[in-house]
Amino acid sequence: MDNERPSNARGDKITDETKILISSLPSDADGEGKKLCNYQGCWYYYNTLQGVLNFQRGFQPQDTDIILASFPKSGTTWLKALTVSLLERSKKHSSDDEHILLSDNPHGIVPFFEIDVFHESSSPDLSKFSSFPRLFSTHMPLHTMKPTLKDSPCKIVYICRDVKDTLISWWFFVCAMLKVEPKTSILESIYKSFCSGAIYYGPFWEHVLSYWKGSLEDPKHVLFMRYEEIKAEPCDQIKRLADFLGCPFTKEEEENGSVEKISDLCSLRNLSGMEVNKTGKVNDVDHKNFFRKGEVGDWKNYLTPEMENKIDMIIQEKLQCSGLKF
Ligand code: A3P
Repeated sequence: MDNERPSNARGDKITDETKILISSLPSDADGEGKKLCNYQGCWYYYNTLQGVLNFQRGFQPQDTDIILASFPKSGTTWLKALTVSLLERSKKHSSDDEHILLSDNPHGIVPFFEIDVFHESSSPDLSKFSSFPRLFSTHMPLHTMKPTLKDSPCKIVYICRDVKDTLISWWFFVCAMLKVEPKTSILESIYKSFCSGAIYYGPFWEHVLSYWKGSLEDPKHVLFMRYEEIKAEPCDQIKRLADFLGCPFTKEEEENGSVEKISDLCSLRNLSGMEVNKTGKVNDVDHKNFFRKGEVGDWKNYLTPEMENKIDMIIQEKLQCSGLKF
């Protein structure tokens, strides 16, 4: 949130044109009373909307760009670490101590379009993205990004996570950002927003559907990954990601344990234990707040049966006939 942040500590830089646009858009507020507006079917804080508009106005895709996409709290950090590690294989290090993940948090290495790169301007200096290929991330739904990408053959990887685990992860994250204990009242308020759809980057179902449909229509350019599948079969999923990105593992790499090495390097335990992730911040978010339990089904510890049933019913109805199931 502003890297998924509930408050806007970096200050709003909203143009008059955007203010006029906002006044014409549906509006709402999140549980903390922070204003949201609905643009192209997705709910944004005002300063994020400015970033989205800047991106739509100014981004010039390159054919080799890679874009990592997600709904917040779905495993974005993990996907970034895995992708960076896959691409780093081609770079020769004199020792493992030089790995880029040891010197920065995955969010520092792979910036968000609308929250970082285009946060303040539609013509940012992209010269620092000289590394090849350029690696970006976003929480925007695919349909908002698509017109800007035009017919670019760039690759988009989406990570999707179980809705109830995403909700619980969001709750813990919001409480960590607010520096309060995880209170039930906050969970209830986030749950309500999740169910109504009026939550930062929501509705959840529209978000996942936009990438799900995109991956069915154009599987060469949109890869749909699931958090739970990466947890269950990390090596198979890492190889799938590598194949999609056009950097498959050689037989020799597979034999010498390269896949397992990336899986271990990017494990929650390993990443969260790195000095760089125990300290430091990105966009006002402590690096450590990107890591918690990383468990599948953690929602069972917190949601009431009523909450569970209601979310299940909503998701079932919204995803009906799409072929996508949770
Ligand atoms: P939990 O709160 O359920 O533990 P995002 O990266 O999109 O912000 O998502 C954060 C969620 O991903 C958190 O889930 C966090 O613990 C989990 N996560 C972060 N790094 C991970 C990793 N390397 N492996 C598995 N899960 C990870």
